[in-house]
Amino acid sequence: GSPTIGLAEEMAMEPSTCVAAEEPELPAAAPPAEPLPPTARRTRVVVLGSGWGAVSFIKNLDPQAFGERGPYELVVVSPRNYMLYTPLLPSAVGGVVSENSIVESIRKIVGDKGTYYEARVADINPATRTLTCVKEYCEVCAARKHSGHTEADHTFTLAYDIVLCSVGAVNATFGIPGVPEHCWFLKSMEDASRLRRHISKAVEHAALPDTTPEQRKKLLSFVVVGGGPTGVETAAELYDLLAEDVARSLPQIKASCSADDVSITLVDGMDSLLGSFHKEIQTYAGEVFHHHGIKLRLGTKVTAVHEGHISVQLKDGSLDTVPYGTAIWATGIAMHPLVAQLQARLPAAVQTSRRGLLVDPHLRVLGSQGTIFCLGDAAVTGAAPQAALPPTAQVARQEGEYLAALLSKNRLALREDADVDADPVGEELVPLPPRAKPFRYTHLGALAYLGEQKGVMDLPVKTPFLKTLRGYLGAQAWRTLETFMQISPRTRWLVMHDWMRASLFGRNVSDI
Ligand code: FAD
Ligand code: NAI
Repeated sequence: GSPTIGLAEEMAMEPSTCVAAEEPELPAAAPPAEPLPPTARRTRVVVLGSGWGAVSFIKNLDPQAFGERGPYELVVVSPRNYMLYTPLLPSAVGGVVSENSIVESIRKIVGDKGTYYEARVADINPATRTLTCVKEYCEVCAARKHSGHTEADHTFTLAYDIVLCSVGAVNATFGIPGVPEHCWFLKSMEDASRLRRHISKAVEHAALPDTTPEQRKKLLSFVVVGGGPTGVETAAELYDLLAEDVARSLPQIKASCSADDVSITLVDGMDSLLGSFHKEIQTYAGEVFHHHGIKLRLGTKVTAVHEGHISVQLKDGSLDTVPYGTAIWATGIAMHPLVAQLQARLPAAVQTSRRGLLVDPHLRVLGSQGTIFCLGDAAVTGAAPQAALPPTAQVARQEGEYLAALLSKNRLALREDADVDADPVGEELVPLPPRAKPFRYTHLGALAYLGEQKGVMDLPVKTPFLKTLRGYLGAQAWRTLETFMQISPRTRWLVMHDWMRASLFGRNVSDI
């Protein structure tokens, strides 16, 4: 008979662990490709990534400047051939919006402005102005697990004149033991789909006739670490899913957070939720979560995650544990490894941030001789005329718009007389016109969903009477803006449709 696969094993199984029944003959690995040279006389601009910053840049480019006859050649390299609308990832976990509704093909976005390659950039070499790209797919490795191929067999090299680095960031774990092994993250579409399916499986398992009350309680105890907007919105969507849809479809589970079986706990080292929002909103969010029955463990820092429980330290130094069935980790972001690698190659005297690449007021990476621009979560704008900007989609979008205008309006090119070996800080290889305007950020407010048709909005312009929107109005503002800001008319339509479907027929509680 076939071996029995436990719930945990089944959930942990990845397609990559499957081995083809018959292993085909191995073709020889292709020889390493020569660097693809830039097309003669055109400035090759290579965009790294297909997220908020990259897509905003591509969408706003002047098609004349980046068309076949324009002065620029556009190449986009990203391991993801789609743009993901991250603000609705928590709603995808809650089964409100479908995966397909919040992604758009990068090929459609690039159109005939340039070329897209599905690959991960593994190295940026400013000395040779080349990128080492690793292909996302290899037919040999897909057919057999032990193909003998190394990363070098999957690489190609791309030469550039200008790079736009918009690779984003990675999840911050602060080296806390047990986090990667035991926690679920929420950064990618895959993360959201896996977490949604896992929640569905945990609920189904809890409803089985031989599940003991102790097992059920454990299966239905959810702990979210991080009370920033990601953690808060994830806890809110989880609450809606459990309190409304799971309660309706599985009446044997008392799916209310205050009931015995189900619990949602939110842990944060700070004393309030949504630290970057207005004080009024922080207090209101705490009240709403209290009303939902979500347990708040504030002033509580996670120090380690173990199988089934989390070790925490309270403000007074005392230690405690928080039991969990599912732990979701949402404690912000850390520097992308590619960004860290590039930073190490640039002069340490100018690259001093541990958060990302320091850029000048025109978003050029300090010490890169004007050949590398950086935007979004990978960039640190501390050297700009204003304070360092937060790592948000709103900032990345405006930076992309700014760079698109900068390049479209000014014909940037590598100086022909440039001395490549000159002092890397002093010598500019791609000069900007002297009157090029610096980047300026306009804050348009911030929104968050709190569950049960309640939301909050930090208004961009504060009057003595109205600083924030809260409650039903806040939720409506959030929903309207998340629809309006969608990537394309197609995703706008699908998101509207999903919200209508969820309110008429409920959320997706299936584990497919
Ligand atoms: P990303 O959008 O993360 O894009 C990075 C791109 O780089 C991706 O396409 C990735 O595939 C690609 N890439 C990665 N590695 C490589 C490589 N080695 N080579 C080439 N390409 C690579 N912000 C808001 O303002 N409002 C919100 O409501 C909001 N909600 C959020 C909800 C969640 C769950 C999360 C996780 C974030 C949210 N954010 C929100 C933050 C926002 O998503 C980020 O600030 C924004 O995505 C940053 O844009 P970016 O272009 O720098 O990076
Ligand atoms: P964040 O950095 O905003 O919040 C992380 C939280 O985790 C903090 O409150 C911090 O105190 C807590 N934390 C860190 N380490 C901890 C530990 N060991 N134990 C307990 N708590 C710990 O991160 P988040 O929410 O992922 O957001 C990242 C960025 O994306 C932010 O700039 C945010 O504004 C943006 N974003 C905006 C949204 C919105 O506007 N609706 C939604 C989601 C993200």
